[in-house]
Amino acid sequence: TEISKAAVDALVKNKNLTDGEFKALLQTGEFDGYLFECADKVRREHYGDEVYIRGLIEISNYCKNNCYYCGIRAGNGNAERYRLTKDDILSCAKEGYRLGFRTFVLQGGEDMFFTDEVICDIVSGIKKEYPDCAVTLSLGEKSFDSYKKYYDAGADRYLLRHETANNEHYSKLHPESMSLENRKQCLYNLKKIGYQTGSGFMVGSPYQTYETLIEDLRFLQDLKPDMIGIGPYITHKDTPFKNFESGSLCLTLRLVAILRLMFPYVLLPSTTALGTIHPQGREMGLKAGANVVMPNLSPTSVRKLYTLYDNKICTGDEAAQCIECLKRRVESAGYRIVTDVGNVKK
Ligand code: 5AD
Ligand code: FES
Repeated sequence: TEISKAAVDALVKNKNLTDGEFKALLQTGEFDGYLFECADKVRREHYGDEVYIRGLIEISNYCKNNCYYCGIRAGNGNAERYRLTKDDILSCAKEGYRLGFRTFVLQGGEDMFFTDEVICDIVSGIKKEYPDCAVTLSLGEKSFDSYKKYYDAGADRYLLRHETANNEHYSKLHPESMSLENRKQCLYNLKKIGYQTGSGFMVGSPYQTYETLIEDLRFLQDLKPDMIGIGPYITHKDTPFKNFESGSLCLTLRLVAILRLMFPYVLLPSTTALGTIHPQGREMGLKAGANVVMPNLSPTSVRKLYTLYDNKICTGDEAAQCIECLKRRVESAGYRIVTDVGNVKK
């Protein structure tokens, strides 16, 4: 399909394109400048120059799963495992609150130590101490009942990337013990329960094609998530995918902009993975339509251990240093960090 600048205008107007147009737009860098400009305009219409911060607390790197791309997969015998206690997590939240965070994201591998009871106790503990804060969970696939229990304990949001919406592609990224069908069901369950729900995918994962990316966009149109997390796939040396190349910065930024135009209201993070493949990756993500950043609040002692991919940034500094550096970076890009719970504006 031949494509012109008018396709970007059509995307702005209709929040949609045909498969052929999406493919052509994904393949060319010709309109990136205009695409990013339009995405930034739409982002400013909905969120102004505000950037929401989320304090990411990586509660455990134990995981029962074996995703072929992920550094904390069960089969990685080189990973040094850790889990945080409730007290550890509450002190991360305390430091975070002092620094201006009003959302805490508890992320971890699928660690059976964290039973429903343990998770609910931690969630209600944070909500009791910080009733003006949102708690986001990112703990993988659970039953409807488990998700409901966490919600009733006070969890507000849940992040679960679908990773790829194409069945065949999904089975090339995951062992047979995991299925796209269950992953999608989890996402619909989360929405039904009432969570602000986030999905997303990696850009440039092994075996991904423009066609599978378009399926990702179509799936997101069906799900209508409140949050969409995307970042480049980054090789991890101790995984079966160690010989695959990392995803590209340009394609990731192009997708950030396309997602902003398809979902004007969405909470769209400029991810740590973007900051890892390019020193100014997160700033570029913001300028392409992202409006959220998720700095690390985990204790310094474990940051290096939560390695989904190689060369992850911000694994050494104190939380306070990190937020100062991030404030400067966000301002240099033309935006400002706000102290706000940062709910979706829908
Ligand atoms: N590169 C980039 N992102 C990764 N994730 C897991 N492994 C990698 C990797 N090697 C992403 C997945 C997961 C999220 C928490 O991190 O998309 O959902
Ligand atoms: Fe972490 Fe800069 S954002 S050190």
